[in-house]
Amino acid sequence: MGKCKFWTLRSNFQGQAKLSDFQLVEEDIPTNLKDGELVCEALYLSVDPYMRLFSDWSEVGKPVVGEQVARVTDSKNAKYPVGSVIRLSSGWRSHTHVKDVSTIDVMPELGDLPLSLTLGVMGMPGMTAYFTLLDVLKIKKGETLLVSGAAGAVGSLAGQIGKIMGCTVIGFAGTNAKVKWLKELGFDHAFNYKTEDVGKSIDRVAPDGVHCYCDMVGGEISFQVIKRMRDHGRMVVLGSISTYNNSTETTGPYLFSDILTKSLTITGFIIFNIREKWHIGEKQMAEWIKEGKLKYKETITNGFEHMPEAFLGLFSGENTGKAVVKA
Ligand SMILES: NC(=O)c1ccc[n+]([C@@H]2O[C@H](COP(=O)([O-])OP(=O)(O)OC[C@H]3O[C@@H](n4cnc5c(N)ncnc54)[C@H](OP(=O)(O)O)[C@@H]3O)[C@@H](O)[C@H]2O)c1
Repeated sequence: MGKCKFWTLRSNFQGQAKLSDFQLVEEDIPTNLKDGELVCEALYLSVDPYMRLFSDWSEVGKPVVGEQVARVTDSKNAKYPVGSVIRLSSGWRSHTHVKDVSTIDVMPELGDLPLSLTLGVMGMPGMTAYFTLLDVLKIKKGETLLVSGAAGAVGSLAGQIGKIMGCTVIGFAGTNAKVKWLKELGFDHAFNYKTEDVGKSIDRVAPDGVHCYCDMVGGEISFQVIKRMRDHGRMVVLGSISTYNNSTETTGPYLFSDILTKSLTITGFIIFNIREKWHIGEKQMAEWIKEGKLKYKETITNGFEHMPEAFLGLFSGENTGKAVVKA
């Protein structure tokens, strides 16, 4: 009988998560499946910033949440025979016993594209970028779009979609190498927020201000951007990674007077709330990749046992593009 490994929370995160907050647990892989059930083995697993928040609403001892793409290794379900490849949110597990196949996500049409993209450009981060720009911001040709967290999984795609839609795109990222990559992707302006003054950089390249802001980071960067939004500017709050490790709640200063006097629209958006629409975005992303309009990068960590390191790397900027673990 083989063994399944899974990562659980050993202790709730206090501030920055630590390797010692995670525990690797083993159990037997089930063999006597009931009708309709299956077992799958992880091929690629996703690490994402939202998992930092998971500790706040999870109990110690619970498996860490997350998506993976996996191959069916045992099956009593005709729809998913042995060898089928599936995407599911079963957490940081090497093997999953699926009792209810309605929990399995629909796989995107990948064609020749690598399987791991199911977790990146053809998955949750890609869909976040796509629907944020087209459905929420409703970005228009000629507008100035600013993206923070720009060299990450969502940001690098959001900026490129902005270019496809005919916008001037400004990106902020945390290393010079990332800034160079953003320029290669076609960003009009890119800056290292750790070495350059965010406000002055925006003033220099967008003296009339920013129409749309795709916010991944919150904190000081967003403070500086909101100050430089144009009248009737639109901002989407996708994440706030600069505050995820704070142990106390941020209490401002909030820019209510800027929001009021500039008549800004600020929207929070969670991609899992529009799961039924993903197929539309997946089709378009695949086409843009095929046409050479959309480029992607993955930072792949080898080995299921390195899931915590890959996850922690998100908070120190180790990844460029999508962070994925190859099991
Ligand atoms: N609302 C949704 O549905 C949704 C969906 C997906 C993601 N998100 C959110 O979007 C954001 C980006 O997610 P992602 O998957 O694309 O992650 P990611 O950008 O691929 O990885 C995280 C990146 O954040 C940057 N970072 C870390 N700490 C930072 C800080 N203190 N200040 C500024 N930047 C920091 C790092 O890059 P640098 O080297 O540039 O610092 C790091 O590489 C996260 O906040 C995430 O929670 C939301």
